[in-house]
Amino acid sequence: MRVIIEPDYDKLSLWAARYIARRIKNHERSGETRPFVLGLPTGSSPLGTYKELIKLCRSGYLSFRNVVTFNMDEYIGLPKNHEQSYWMFMHRNFFDHIDIPAENANLLDGMAEDPVEECRAYEEKIASYGGIDLFLGGIGADGHIAFNEPFSSLSSRTREKTLTYDTKVMNSRFFGGNISAIPSKALTVGVETIMSADEVMILVNGHSKARALRHTVEGGVSQAWTCSALQMHKRAIIVCDEDACDELKVSTYRYFKDIEQANLEPMAL
Ligand code: GLP
Repeated sequence: MRVIIEPDYDKLSLWAARYIARRIKNHERSGETRPFVLGLPTGSSPLGTYKELIKLCRSGYLSFRNVVTFNMDEYIGLPKNHEQSYWMFMHRNFFDHIDIPAENANLLDGMAEDPVEECRAYEEKIASYGGIDLFLGGIGADGHIAFNEPFSSLSSRTREKTLTYDTKVMNSRFFGGNISAIPSKALTVGVETIMSADEVMILVNGHSKARALRHTVEGGVSQAWTCSALQMHKRAIIVCDEDACDELKVSTYRYFKDIEQANLEPMAL
């Protein structure tokens, strides 16, 4: 596991965006005709990264024309055009501002009549592209990745999940503070779906995520902290800010600062 510790949220976002841009460009330059397959999250954590990627696209440096995306999750019962659907979030904050063909952006349908079939078909579609090259994610304060709440199976695939009270409290900020307005269930990729990607990058910012970061990096692998599964991934990168490191041991913090010293500046384009 790599842990990149940036001074603040803006620098973290710039580092992550440039890394993603570099991966897409390298894929393009390799002469590969297969599209680059990118897994994407919602939430406040990736907003800065999306802004930087939009800038790179507008500047003409980066194109998403040969990129296919799969989002992590969607609330059950919210139609696409609902203000708080993840479909709406992704279009408002990312897809509407880049050159990705509409048919390349995949999201689970929270209104699907048959959620089991919806999830099966989603996994099948990911597989049809040869899997996900890079899965970008955020993390919940309780360590959940996508909507894989504490005690989710670490070998789970895309399926329906009931949201915990904690997650509903956290996400109520997007629903005017009204917990009862939040759907109780969601469709989400599984821990194993994320783990099957060639590479996983998780953004962790702010003091409220410090405990989750400690469990991700220093804790044992446990279904209680689904983020800890990343310890078993061959190419996992955590990009965090100083505030998120508040609960790491000094020795852990120093180790990653030392070993990544040469890589801390956001890469040149
Ligand atoms: C939701 C999403 C997760 C996200 C988490 C953290 O629960 N399903 O994918 O990582 O929120 O959100 P934020 O980035 O706003 O802290």
